[in-house]
Amino acid sequence: MITTIFALLFYSATAIFLLGLAVRIRTFAKTPAPLKVPTTPAPTTKGGVAMRLLKEVVLFKALFKANKWIWLFGWVFHFALLLVLLRHLRYFTDPVWSWVALMQPLGKYAGFAMVLGLAGLLFRRIAVNRIRYISAPSDYLMLVLILAIGGTGLGMKYIMHTDIVALKAFFLGLMYFDWQPLPEDPLLLIHLGLVAFLMIIFPFSKLIHAVGIFFSPGLNQVDNPREKRHISGWAQKLEAGDGGGN
Ligand code: HEM
Repeated sequence: MITTIFALLFYSATAIFLLGLAVRIRTFAKTPAPLKVPTTPAPTTKGGVAMRLLKEVVLFKALFKANKWIWLFGWVFHFALLLVLLRHLRYFTDPVWSWVALMQPLGKYAGFAMVLGLAGLLFRRIAVNRIRYISAPSDYLMLVLILAIGGTGLGMKYIMHTDIVALKAFFLGLMYFDWQPLPEDPLLLIHLGLVAFLMIIFPFSKLIHAVGIFFSPGLNQVDNPREKRHISGWAQKLEAGDGGGN
């Protein structure tokens, strides 16, 4: 019964996650950017823009300039999350890729770093008046949700173990449509239930910034308004005389 519920839950969560992402990406891609608005000083070539985005995504450069504490906690959380997710690949691959096997110990410490970063971000939201004032319930929800996922994960790793061989069989079974029983340990069921919830809300929540950053005109535009006239698709049609209608 539990196996069936979680199997259906993960199929639905994956479908909603992927479809939701596709819809959001489509909307981002179709949203017009009628003006040149790169945040200056901005690169003047496409290669420069790629470098700028890379520095933002990997190092959170603008955040570093803006606020060192948020940068520290935010960067530690995101980098640790990446390591944790990579470490989890062992549940979905058979045989486990050698680099995933090699980075397992690193991913273990990353679990603690992730929770620490999140705790710092949550503390800031509660302790700094100015930030508390502008915080919406969803800001807290995301932090608490990911904290709870990390907490139950660490709980399984260090306090109440689960059968990770059976768990892996369950997920490989889902992927190959050959269902296997899911271990019914409470921490695992909470961990997985929260992960499924996270997948379902991800595309519609602020967490979509992971994708949205690439579509941000301030970051992805080349600063060349004098060299090349910037004109959006719909304005071009108007100029050509076939899109007006009034
Ligand atoms: C379907 C997806 C997932 C499965 C099957 C899964 C399963 C597990 C299991 C079995 C453990 C215990 C590891 C052990 O005992 O050695 C664990 C640990 C952990 N999980 Fe997950 N998890 C999933 C998704 C996630 C996500 C999305 C996050 C973060 C947002 C996360 C964060 C953690 C953390 C921080 C730990 C503790 C550190 C570690 O052992 O890596 N998990 N997870």
